[in-house]
Amino acid sequence: MSHNTFGHLFRVTTWGESHGPAIGCVVDGCPPSIPLSEADIQPFLDRRRPGQSKFVTQRQEPDQVRILSGVFEGRTTGTPIALVIENQDQRSKDYSNIAETFRPGHADLTYQAKYGLRDYRGGGRSSARETAMRVAAGAIARKLLEGVTIRGALVAIGGDEVDRGAWDWDQVDQNPFFCPDPATAERWESKLLELRKSGNSVGAVVEVVAEGVPPGLGAPLYGKLDADLASAMMSINAVKGVEIGDGFAAASLTGDENADRMRPGPSGEVLFETNHAGGILGGISTSQPIVLRFAVKPTSSLLLPQASINTRGEAIEVVTKGRHDPCVGIRAVPVGEAMMAITLADHLLRHRAQNPDAPTTLRFPRN
Ligand SMILES: Cc1cc2nc3c(=O)[nH]c(=O)nc-3n(C[C@H](O)[C@H](O)[C@H](O)COP(=O)(O)O)c2cc1C
Repeated sequence: MSHNTFGHLFRVTTWGESHGPAIGCVVDGCPPSIPLSEADIQPFLDRRRPGQSKFVTQRQEPDQVRILSGVFEGRTTGTPIALVIENQDQRSKDYSNIAETFRPGHADLTYQAKYGLRDYRGGGRSSARETAMRVAAGAIARKLLEGVTIRGALVAIGGDEVDRGAWDWDQVDQNPFFCPDPATAERWESKLLELRKSGNSVGAVVEVVAEGVPPGLGAPLYGKLDADLASAMMSINAVKGVEIGDGFAAASLTGDENADRMRPGPSGEVLFETNHAGGILGGISTSQPIVLRFAVKPTSSLLLPQASINTRGEAIEVVTKGRHDPCVGIRAVPVGEAMMAITLADHLLRHRAQNPDAPTTLRFPRN
């Protein structure tokens, strides 16, 4: 059985474990003749890289990506693109104490119960080390999405929300939290410093926005764009909820409040007054910005002792050693952007395959 592949026409398969010699992915279905080199991928990996601030894990991984196949003389050939990153800073002995114990809130318990064995070093395959390859594949996906801008930001830590009135995308890369508002970032800094000292962790909310998406991506019914985006985001480690547009808040609105009213533009283009729907209607993109948020739970590996059991079924207390992100939501931001890019690139290829003559703008009468 294979469950390590995402996408239909733009297909990403990842492999590798936290403390194995390397992690990697194969991107199959990428069209030929797209200019591609390691330099196109590395900046995205650098944004996700661990050890860059005291608010993330101190594991030091340069995350240098190498392209092994599918690119010739600087262009994709249409054949599978294999990417690899060598793991360099494994400290497996930190994890010897979880070989026979289960960290509450982590995947140790279910991997052991399902498979009867597991690579416990650093969480093995369940480690978010794997998400580096999603980010690498996402960089390739972005190359297919000409005219589309995908940006992510952290919008809440431990229930403390960003001031949306002060939102500035240019600030996102100016602080260690991917926070679009410097004043909020300062508040989060003191909060996380306290938390780190106490050995505890905290949850967060990530928002990802894609602008410039053409209309028509997505398909009824089991290929809905919103369903595939939700699946993409939920597949990220520690994600416990996803909402598109107004999401759960839409349930508190009346139909009149929720309606995204339309007017005809001067050249027949559709002008929306609002975007409660988050850029998707009937599972198909409208050309408005696609807006989604996902909830990331607090890191489960804690320095604080937790009641648990071991593989012999005995009662124990777990205190996790090793290096961990006190708020895994922070480094989930580039991962969310990557999953948005991969999902949109896949849907773009699927849309073009089925409907090559579809208009690229939303206007009526349809030309
Ligand atoms: C970017 C990122 C970094 C993570 N780092 C850690 C970590 O250092 N320690 C930890 O216990 N969990 C970490 N996680 C979460 C675990 O991988 C995840 O909770 C675990 O695999 C169990 O899966 P689940 O939470 O989806 O049920 C991280 C998640 C992300 C997205």
